[in-house]
Amino acid sequence: MTVTEPSSISAEASSDTIVEVRNLTKHFPIEKGLLKRTVGQVQAVNGISFDVRRGSTVALVGESGCGKTTTGQLILHLLEPTSGTVRFEGRDLAGLQRGELRRLRQRMQIIFQDPFSSLDPRMSTLSIVAEGLEVHGIASGKQKVDRVVELLELVGLSSRDLRKFPHEFSGGQRQRIGIARALATNPEVIVCDEAVSALDVSIQAQVLNLLKDLQAELNLTYLFITHDLNVVRYISDEVIVMYLGEIVEQAATEDLFENPIHPYTRSLFSAVPVVDPDLAEKREPFLASGELPSPSNPPSGCKFHTRCPFSCEAATQQIPETVEFEPGHRAAACPCYTTDGVRVR
Ligand SMILES: Nc1ncnc2c1ncn2[C@@H]1O[C@H](COP(=O)(O)OP(=O)(O)OP(=O)(O)O)[C@@H](O)[C@H]1O
Ligand SMILES: [Mg+2]
Repeated sequence: MTVTEPSSISAEASSDTIVEVRNLTKHFPIEKGLLKRTVGQVQAVNGISFDVRRGSTVALVGESGCGKTTTGQLILHLLEPTSGTVRFEGRDLAGLQRGELRRLRQRMQIIFQDPFSSLDPRMSTLSIVAEGLEVHGIASGKQKVDRVVELLELVGLSSRDLRKFPHEFSGGQRQRIGIARALATNPEVIVCDEAVSALDVSIQAQVLNLLKDLQAELNLTYLFITHDLNVVRYISDEVIVMYLGEIVEQAATEDLFENPIHPYTRSLFSAVPVVDPDLAEKREPFLASGELPSPSNPPSGCKFHTRCPFSCEAATQQIPETVEFEPGHRAAACPCYTTDGVRVR
C-alpha cells in the first residue's frame, strides 16, 4: 500500500509523459448584482494531479458538472488555472510567451461533442478544415487544398466533399470533418470532449474505430471525456473518475472494470447498462443516493459522504488519503470501505 497526497496520482512524470497535471485548480467566481460583487466560488476543479503517457488514451469520467470539460480546457490552456500547473513535454504552459503558446496550440487540439453546432453552417468543408492551416501559417493556395484533401481522405471523406456545407452531411460525417479539422495542424494531443455522445450507437462505433486507427497511425494521445462507460472500456487505456472537481479513482481500464474500489465508481458502474455479459454478471446493485451537491458549496470531509451507501462518521470530517491499492490503481480511501489500504466491503 502506498499513501499519496490527496488527489495526487503520481509524484514524478516519467520520460514518456506528454502531459503532466499537478494540483490543478479552477474556481469560477459567482457574481451578483450590478456591481458584480463576488458572493462565492464554483469549485469546478480542485487540486487534481495526473500524467498522460504519449500515445495513450486517458478517459475522464464522472457525472455532469464534475469538472471534466474544465479540466480539458485547462490542459489546452483555453482557461487560466486558479492554481496548479499543466506541463506539455515538461514545459509549464503558464510560463510561455504568446508566440510559444501559439506554436504549442498547434500540437494540442479539441474535438467537440456536437457535430451540428461545432461547425459553422456558412463555411464549406474546405474553409473549416483549412482554418488551422491558415491561422498557423502552415499552408496556403494549392498546398492548402491538397492538405485538406489528404485530411479528408484520412477520415474517410473525399475531395468531392470539399465544397459542401455542414448541412449536406450526416452527424457521423460532420464529426469526421471535426476530426479532420483537429488533425490539420499535426497535433500530438487531442482532447475529445464527448466526441461521440451525440451520435447513434452504430455511427459511434465507426467514429471510435476511426479515432483508434488514427491514433495507431499518427501516434496520437487522447484525453477522452465521456459519461459512457461502454465507450470508456472500448477506447481507453486508463480511466480517471472525477467527483465534484476531484479525482476519486484512477486505474488501467481493465483494472478499474474488474475491481472498482471507490463507492462512487461502484455506483457509476452499477447505474449504467453494460453490454459485456461477463461484467453484467459481476455487477453489484450499488447506487449513490440523493442529489449531486453543488460545487459552490461542497460537503466537508469526503465530498461523497452525503450520497455514500457506507456513510460513516469519519467521512463527514476527514478528507480521505489517496491510496495505491495495486500498482497504478489509486483511489481516495475512506475508512468506511477500507482498512489499512485494503478494500473491505
Ligand atoms: N465559465 C464558467 N463560469 C462559471 N461556472 C462554470 C464555468 N464553466 C463551468 N462552470 C461550472 O463548473 C462546474 C464544472 O463544469 P464542467 O463543464 O467542467 O463539467 P462537466 O463535467 O464537463 O459536465 P458535463 O458532463 O455536463 O459536460 C459546473 O458546476 C459548471 O457549472
Ligand atoms: Mg462537459
